[in-house]
Amino acid sequence: MSVHKSIPHDSGTGHVTGTARYTDDMPLPANAVHLAFGLSQNAHGDLTSVDLSAVRAAKGVITVLTADDLPFENDVSPSAHDEPLLATGMVHYIGQPIFLVVADSHLNARKAARLGKIVYADKPALLTIDDAISADSRFEKPLEFRIGEPESVLEAAPRQISGQFEIGGQEHFYLEGQASFAVPSEGDIIVHSSTQHPTEIQHKVAAALGVSYNAVRVEVRRMGGGFGGKESQGNALAVACAVVAQLLQLPAKMRYDRDDDMIITGKRHEFRIAYCAGFDNTGKLQSVMFEHHVRCGWALDLSIPVGDRAMLHADNAYYLPNASILSHRMRTNTQSNTAYRGFGGPQGIVGIERVMDHIAHELGLDPLDVRKANFYETGGDQKTPYHMDVIDSISTELVAELEATSDYTKRRAEIAEYNANSAILKRGIALTPVKFGISFTLTHLNQAGALVHVYSDGSVHLNHGGTEMGQGLNIKIAQVAAEVFGLDVSAIKITATDTGKVPNTSATAASSGTDLNGMACKAACETIKARLVEFAKSQWEGEVSFANGKVSIGTRTMTFGELAGAAYAGRIQLSATGFYKTPKIKWDRMAGKGRPFLYFSYGAAVTEVVIDTLTGENRILRADILHDAGASLNPALDIGQIEGAYVQGAGWLTMEELVWNDKGSLLSHAPSTYKIPACSDTPEIFNVALWDGENQENTIYRSKAVGEPPFSLGISAYLALSDAISACGDAYTDIDAPATCERILQAADRLRGQQW
Ligand code: MTE
Ligand code: MOS
Repeated sequence: MSVHKSIPHDSGTGHVTGTARYTDDMPLPANAVHLAFGLSQNAHGDLTSVDLSAVRAAKGVITVLTADDLPFENDVSPSAHDEPLLATGMVHYIGQPIFLVVADSHLNARKAARLGKIVYADKPALLTIDDAISADSRFEKPLEFRIGEPESVLEAAPRQISGQFEIGGQEHFYLEGQASFAVPSEGDIIVHSSTQHPTEIQHKVAAALGVSYNAVRVEVRRMGGGFGGKESQGNALAVACAVVAQLLQLPAKMRYDRDDDMIITGKRHEFRIAYCAGFDNTGKLQSVMFEHHVRCGWALDLSIPVGDRAMLHADNAYYLPNASILSHRMRTNTQSNTAYRGFGGPQGIVGIERVMDHIAHELGLDPLDVRKANFYETGGDQKTPYHMDVIDSISTELVAELEATSDYTKRRAEIAEYNANSAILKRGIALTPVKFGISFTLTHLNQAGALVHVYSDGSVHLNHGGTEMGQGLNIKIAQVAAEVFGLDVSAIKITATDTGKVPNTSATAASSGTDLNGMACKAACETIKARLVEFAKSQWEGEVSFANGKVSIGTRTMTFGELAGAAYAGRIQLSATGFYKTPKIKWDRMAGKGRPFLYFSYGAAVTEVVIDTLTGENRILRADILHDAGASLNPALDIGQIEGAYVQGAGWLTMEELVWNDKGSLLSHAPSTYKIPACSDTPEIFNVALWDGENQENTIYRSKAVGEPPFSLGISAYLALSDAISACGDAYTDIDAPATCERILQAADRLRGQQW
């Protein structure tokens, strides 16, 4: 068997020894040129004068381009055509590219990019959600999903609560920054890009050069992390490189330094969530109403589907018989926010998890009991607020198991006792579940292709439409190919993603990389295998089977390579494409009805923390996770995804804080001012286990997608902090996210009756 096995990441050794090659590591031809953007220093205004004479005169500068110099389309947006590569007459945020410097070195390009003399006529800049609400600055009109009679049931409910809180954004902080490299090739262009979406790069480059798609080939070997930040944000660099490469007929390369990367690119969307809930005295929900205000930034990017996914996860693992989720997509003069692991889902989930905690506080119950009272029924068909039947819920069983293995009840009692005897240090614990919908909500994106060649020596060349960003997609797909052919994975050559091999691909996103490309690869391999079987039967007697690198035909045994060689000599085609489209899904977002997801992935986490109530400093002491990856294709990789996702989710809600000044300038634009979790921030005790079960839908070897769902398990760290703070007084701890040391201290003081 090659599937359901913990095979190491194919590039694991390369990652740690530095031999894994990234876009920036590619050896450059001697005459390659280097690019840098000159950025807006103004959050909103007209460009009254752009004097680039000092830029042009700077050392090493070859040429400088503005919007007027672009040959065809000046647009790098993923959809709405509202995001010019270079500003045209106006700027919309601090960090917007205005001009493009082409120089003989990266450093010279960057130095020259600072020398532009630009005069702006200021316009009012809308920076915050409040600013945007006051000015009614928004994309699209508000969208609502609703089920039942939320208003009247809320009013009639025995108990009610309401509240509002803010959830901050998040910088992707991929270790490898955005990078691109374009090479002119007889009128065509080859682009190497650190992107999750090679096909979109192909389309944007083609539009910018005024050529058809077949004149652009995009190649991606790997990214050093993407996390959604490379779904659309790589477009600008790729288009800039392609335009310059075409114009000068020279290879052109661009990479953002970390500060530029953080200043230019979009982040996770900030949310304001307001809620009202009606429930009975056991904590069972009768009605919930949510209102989301989403800070989208200045351009549309992927904000509509991100906002939608937040709505689609507003129920998380809980049955909401009467619910309304209303979402406002606010436009501000800040970076254009984009995809980030969970794609809005985590924000929606934080909303309902806060409601659970608030209800528990109101009723004086353990929050876990309130959660358990509200899970979707196992074996039931209760409807989500978007009218999809939940038929695969396992929350009750999974949480029961985690509750037992993590000693939740005993530790809850120990913590209460600890807090009663500890004046300054307080501990807290929280268990939160996740239920995450799998499929792109834009239904047509749920398709994938693969291209497989078997050479006459039996070695296999594998290509598919997904991209590798560290998550282990390539080795998982190689495991699938190895499984079909009965080969060891070492016989499968993993190759770079290439728009010239598999066309019309979707972004590697929505956690669907393995589900989609795995099935496409399996189809391609099965086509070749069927030809081999037919050939073998035409030559020899008996049943044909493939295992351990060998093929048995009746009593005869030969190596896979010998059969491939014989088939070649017999003029059998040993190359095939495969294709897959997700079945059963159908979604009408305007009606808020349908089945956007093929299935749900489940999980739960228990986090225990300690806080210092004099300083707000805190630590995660222990985390226990039980997560559902279906029949895992590769348990070691899946556990790695779960660990990383949990820490990234906890970082988002506890320490990563984006700060802008009152002019709209991002102050936290380097690791010195923006704190991501370090190894030392991971839980001292970290127990991660996989749920023993398989997908009830017919996915690739009955596995489940794992990339994004466990990100939301980090919510348990946030709510454990809130639980610890609650030891300081009687009121409900309504702490905003991220729960930084400062906010924790402030919240503790609020409970102690001291206002700041
Ligand atoms: N894991 C690593 N190491 N690096 C990444 O950039 N991106 C995440 C997740 N896990 C990411 C990661 C995101 S946002 C998604 S959508 C999925 O991986 C995409 O890959 P998959 O569909 O193959 O799971
Ligand atoms: Mo992931 S946010 O869908 O790239």
